[in-house]
Amino acid sequence: MKKWLLLTIISVFALALAACGGDKESKGEKSSDSYTAEKPLVIKFSHVTSIESVKGKAADQFAKLVSEKTDGKVKVEVYPSSQLYGDNDELDALMSGNVHMIAPSVTKMVKLDPRWQYVDMPFLFENDEHVQKFFKSDIAQTILNSDQLASNDIKGMAFWGNGFKHFSNSKHPLISVDDYKGLKFRAQAGKVLEAQFHALNAGSATIAFGETYAALQQGTVDGQENTFNNFDTQKYQEVQKYLSTTAHGRLDYAIFVNKSFWDKIPADLLAPIEEALVEATDLANKLASEENAKSFENIKNAGTVEVYEMSQEERDTLKAALQPVYDEFGDVITAELIDGINALK
Ligand code: LMR
Repeated sequence: MKKWLLLTIISVFALALAACGGDKESKGEKSSDSYTAEKPLVIKFSHVTSIESVKGKAADQFAKLVSEKTDGKVKVEVYPSSQLYGDNDELDALMSGNVHMIAPSVTKMVKLDPRWQYVDMPFLFENDEHVQKFFKSDIAQTILNSDQLASNDIKGMAFWGNGFKHFSNSKHPLISVDDYKGLKFRAQAGKVLEAQFHALNAGSATIAFGETYAALQQGTVDGQENTFNNFDTQKYQEVQKYLSTTAHGRLDYAIFVNKSFWDKIPADLLAPIEEALVEATDLANKLASEENAKSFENIKNAGTVEVYEMSQEERDTLKAALQPVYDEFGDVITAELIDGINALK
């Protein structure tokens, strides 16, 4: 081959390669070599609970694992306790890329897709094993990978359990259905929870998690519903007098990331990050039942809360009183989800 022809071919290849590289850079993509322990790729992870909570512990463990598995090239900055964003704005912050990862109670995804309120349907889940089966099911994956999320630049990654919710209040023991009448409860979000309180002839107000302690203390609301672990780590023992072990609904999480951000992570860094997430997910799901059991003991031992342990018969009466929630919201949540979850019992 003539020398000039060879040179021309080489130049054309070089130009084509440069064009590809330029295109990558214009999309903001970097290779993993651009990151070092001194100048790491930073993933901002925002959540609303304390560092002592199930979610707080699992999030910190995720950050530790990512650092270990990437030799410090990736740093997960965890912002707990609504430090960076509270309930009302963490989803918006995720969509706009101001944070890259959140782990909300799935109820709060109602802003994008009402089906996430499956978690609030009264007495839908039997026990923690049932919930774990659901997390691994195809129906759970369908909602986690929905178009509603993708079209908002969100990618669903994993489910993290917390536990069953129980009602508490500051006025009197909650045993019969009549005991709820006229009380006002804090709700997380969405119409299903509103309907739940309505079915009990009680009122409700949607209040961000970070503002709930103050709302209970000041009497803006009389009561709330949450897991033992959230109750304990938020110190509701100080502002609530009566707790009944109603276990009437669930509070669980899903991990969501900003899709554009995630898709730009170099493949050789993404693999260890996703491996760390699988391990943190296992930890979260294991911690959930352990920490809730410990917190239940803490609440009883605090001596400030009168704990009423509900009998199965009393829970059945509560379940019957909450049936109107299914009549009103069954179609919104969809038969696919409700029947699918029931079939996993
Ligand atoms: C709540 O608002 O009660 C929960 O979503 C808090 C949480 O994230 O566990």
